[in-house]
Amino acid sequence: MHNLNVYSSIESLNKAICQHVVDLSIKAQEASRPFNVALSGGKTPQRLYKLFASQPFVEQISWGGFNVFFGDERTVPPDSDESNYHMAKLSLFDRSPIPSENIHRVEGENADPSAAAAAYATVLTDFLPTSEEGIPTFDVILLGLGDDGHIASLFPDTPILSQTQKWVDAVYVEKLQTWRISLTFPVINQAKNIFLIVAGEGKAEIVSNVLGSSTKEAKYPVQRLQPKGQVLWFLDSEAASRLANVEK
Ligand code: 6PG
Repeated sequence: MHNLNVYSSIESLNKAICQHVVDLSIKAQEASRPFNVALSGGKTPQRLYKLFASQPFVEQISWGGFNVFFGDERTVPPDSDESNYHMAKLSLFDRSPIPSENIHRVEGENADPSAAAAAYATVLTDFLPTSEEGIPTFDVILLGLGDDGHIASLFPDTPILSQTQKWVDAVYVEKLQTWRISLTFPVINQAKNIFLIVAGEGKAEIVSNVLGSSTKEAKYPVQRLQPKGQVLWFLDSEAASRLANVEK
């Protein structure tokens, strides 16, 4: 049984996600503690991030306690069009009053991806509360879903899928012919809330394969999630279009 939320449009989907995140950030503020969110990369969340920086949400967020991290990053400079940080900078940071010290990017420009991953793991353990096992704990991790079922940069048939000792790791992605830096499953599973954001007809097949399958086999990386917290799926009607027979 998955916690599915299906929306008739990408706009209504984004508004719902924004409201969920804002509500959680307000609860953190009321409890006088920081709010720590890991952003997803890719194209889907760009309009979502602009919404965070727009009325009414921009005024509902207490930006001083709103800390932004990244679920993964490409091995490119921070001003590259390929950079997840660059996308978030254009769609959120440059449009909102978030303090620069609250933005924690991955050093994608580092020529040694493993060193960048290790450095980012230290950023996480320095800034975030940790579990008894020392696992950094996010309030929310936003994740997109690739059409091969990857989340963050946890791609099929890559060694990072079984990484349990590092909180952040570098991974060479053969199909992309490039290195990526990503949170690993221990950190993703540790989050209080995981929001999966999937939109568009192009994701209908993977959504159906992942959510429509009755087998417990973890064929796709997203099916390896073993969350300790809440997982909410936010789908638009196009991405959910082949889910007619799945209990929502
Ligand atoms: C990235 C993301 C990646 C993304 C999916 C979906 O760095 O690209 O972290 O996991 O969320 O590939 O991407 P789209 O939203 O572009 O379909």
